[in-house]
Amino acid sequence: MQIKKIAVLQGDYIGPEIMNSGLEVLEAVSQETNFEYQIHKYPFGGEAIDCCGEPLPQSTIEGCKKSDAVLLSAIGGPKWDKAKIRPEAGLLAIRNELGLFANIRPTKVNPILARKSPVKPEVIQDTDFVIVRELTSGIYFGTPRKQEKYEAIDTSRYTVEEIERIMHIGFEMSMHRKKHVTIVDKANVLATSKLWRKVAQKMNNDYPEVVVDYCYVDAAAMKIITQPSFFDVVITANLFGDILSDEASVLTGSLGTIPSMSTGVTGPSLYEPIHGSAPDIAGRGIADPISMIQSIEMMLRESFGEYELADRITNAVEQAITKGIVTPDLGGTATTKEVTTQIIENLRG
Ligand code: NAD
Ligand code: IPM
Ligand code: MN
Repeated sequence: MQIKKIAVLQGDYIGPEIMNSGLEVLEAVSQETNFEYQIHKYPFGGEAIDCCGEPLPQSTIEGCKKSDAVLLSAIGGPKWDKAKIRPEAGLLAIRNELGLFANIRPTKVNPILARKSPVKPEVIQDTDFVIVRELTSGIYFGTPRKQEKYEAIDTSRYTVEEIERIMHIGFEMSMHRKKHVTIVDKANVLATSKLWRKVAQKMNNDYPEVVVDYCYVDAAAMKIITQPSFFDVVITANLFGDILSDEASVLTGSLGTIPSMSTGVTGPSLYEPIHGSAPDIAGRGIADPISMIQSIEMMLRESFGEYELADRITNAVEQAITKGIVTPDLGGTATTKEVTTQIIENLRG
């Protein structure tokens, strides 16, 4: 079997802490199997600003492009808040460079963690949906954009082609799920959202079995909390998907458990937790590594078809949760290291 090349961008603040956990789990799960891989680390984000003067050096772009998958933890933080080019600009740039227009963010409530959520268990039971977030266009990228002393401009722009390709991913995904798509937009106000609706209506003709409904983003924000089991596949624009996915993570117990996949037409996909670099808890050894470990699980499944290894990771994580070996964000007292060690022990059975 071909040795897989994995580009690792270890990130800032809690980034390296959870990346190390994830890589330890990857090493443990792949021992004594046919799955062979090589890790190549590249500077990125704040770390790259410090070493190379920019958040996304050309050598990092090239390294990622020649890899089979990219793992990223999280970047940014107060150290670089006043930098001329912030770490976050590097994140947008790498998504663009790799053509990663689709960001898949799952929200599945693990019954064992239902009590950890601030939302009532009877409301969140049966929650299992994915947010399909458009990632390389919309208000994050539209021009003109400028910031001056007395005026700033951002532009929300979408082309039909950009909407079609993200819808296509969402509709296809729904065919393997409950065949229910919800388009989340602001079509009562925004021109781009009106165009999203037109494209969705047309695409529905190609997927007649799929039930499509439309929800304004403000109402969707409420419904995610009051009736999360309503949703199956949510397709939405860049900014709405960013906001709603952090909100949805609360249902599962903690933002610190949610992975994501960003993917395009060709080239490697990128796997990363949906959360940030959590500067408030960095260096204390208490960051939840589950988001990173589950991102690696997603990589094994989606990029490498290693379903058995992926299932073993999921089971090992679930066992750690069942035993109550979890970090403080999930109400536990375990450290990052203790959770990682427990998950590795579970893997070894
Ligand atoms: P954040 O997601 O880093 O943190 C929000 C809250 O969630 C904090 O209280 C944090 O402690 C907690 N949290 C997040 N991940 C956790 C984990 N694994 N375990 C336990 N608790 C966890 O959001 P923020 O504080 O608004 O942003 C911090 C920095 O991260 C900013 O510079 C922001 O731009 C950046 N950011 C980066 C990414 C990314 O790299 N993909 C995503 C979001 C934010
Ligand atoms: C995310 C983050 C990023 C985004 C920021 C850090 C640029 O919040 O990945 O969810 O808004 O996409
Ligand atoms: Mn975000």
